[in-house]
Amino acid sequence: MAVAEQTMSGPEIVALSKQHSLFEWSAQGAIDPIPVSRAKGIYFWTPEGRRFIDFNSQLMCVNIGHGDPRVIKAIQDQAATLAYANPFMATEPRARLGKKLAEITPGDIDVFFFTNGGAEATENAIRIARLATGRHKILARYRSYHGGTGAALTATGDPRRWAMEPGMPGIIHVPHPHHGLKRGTDSAAVALEQLEEIVMLEGPHTIAAFIIETVTGTNGIHVPPDGYLEGLRALCDTHGILLIADEVMAGFGRTGEWFAIDHWKVTPDIITMAKGLTSAYVALGAVGIRRPIADHFKDKVFYGGLTYNSHPLGCAAALATIAVYEEDQLIERAKTMGVVMKQMHADLQARHPSVGECRSIGLFGMIELVRDRQTMEPMAPFNGTSPEMQALGKFFREAGLYTFVRWNGFFTNPPLCITETEMAEAFAIIDQGLEITDKAVT
Ligand SMILES: Cc1ncc(COP(=O)(O)O)c(C=O)c1O
Repeated sequence: MAVAEQTMSGPEIVALSKQHSLFEWSAQGAIDPIPVSRAKGIYFWTPEGRRFIDFNSQLMCVNIGHGDPRVIKAIQDQAATLAYANPFMATEPRARLGKKLAEITPGDIDVFFFTNGGAEATENAIRIARLATGRHKILARYRSYHGGTGAALTATGDPRRWAMEPGMPGIIHVPHPHHGLKRGTDSAAVALEQLEEIVMLEGPHTIAAFIIETVTGTNGIHVPPDGYLEGLRALCDTHGILLIADEVMAGFGRTGEWFAIDHWKVTPDIITMAKGLTSAYVALGAVGIRRPIADHFKDKVFYGGLTYNSHPLGCAAALATIAVYEEDQLIERAKTMGVVMKQMHADLQARHPSVGECRSIGLFGMIELVRDRQTMEPMAPFNGTSPEMQALGKFFREAGLYTFVRWNGFFTNPPLCITETEMAEAFAIIDQGLEITDKAVT
């Protein structure tokens, strides 16, 4: 049966999905998924025709927007020609995608290993760093997410890691420059001084790499303080430590540059990507490495493999998606619409006492709510929720706005194709919703 001929109702889809499949990061009894049957641009619909604004680009991944016919056609054409070839073979989409990524990734990043998604990109980035340096320790920060598999989850610095501990040996967590609303963010000088001390105490010669989300995603859209990335680059260079930039969420135009790290003109040794690479039309991730690291594997085995590495459908979807970013100038658009969104954030902050802090770069944004702007008491505790945050989430859903509500905040991450009118439509709903949380302000 073709997907277009869907016959199940929304409640039937939800009931059967819940009966026979596990939903992630949740107690199964507590979830209430939205049934989705189709999507176009910044909107998606339930089988009953209820429309939602997708104000989180699903999982911060459908960057070009839903249902782009150019990407759909590329996937269809590739499926009709060659749906799959094993990763020991060479295909045209693989050949073209590597070349294209070498052009758009920072500095001399030149060689790519293709995966099924972000977590596998993290796994392989860590493996490459260990093999290339002969060292075993990996520094990773708190307030980070690097994926739900073994090494990636061990590197993750948020509560999603806890249930899987102790995880993989050799991963050392270091503080993130941001310390929550009450303490704020360290300056680059303070953060770097602390890192330098940790590097010394751990033994620089034992550290293979330092992995960071260039702009922190699910842990709160934190933009690094001025000078931080440049200082980190210098610190890594001094000690022969590889810098891994996790651009799985922040890459592909989300912040108004191809990659978030481009804002600071820093070249990482290893870069990971997924999500926006295909705008999630097909599952694909990648690890990019600089030429000297690639050269290490000229006469040494690269110990890594995946049945779906360099999947032709994924590579074809990525090529078509990158062409859409270019044709529609979506990277520039994210920058200009990012200015519009920042203004809308500021308007909300001026009108609603429960808005504690708004942060954004390009179309990567978050709003944190507080009970009191003097004390910055969050509207919900770390890793928790509150009746007010639950009521806000319910209001958004009933009003047809889909976004992530997490702890005391919510995200504003629309597809990069969003228009000003569509943005205003979303912010009108948010404006109304914040009346709920304003009532809790002391
Ligand atoms: C920064 C970052 N890295 C890695 C991942 C893992 O990607 P995936 O879910 O495709 O495995 C994510 C997913 O949200 C992410 O945000």
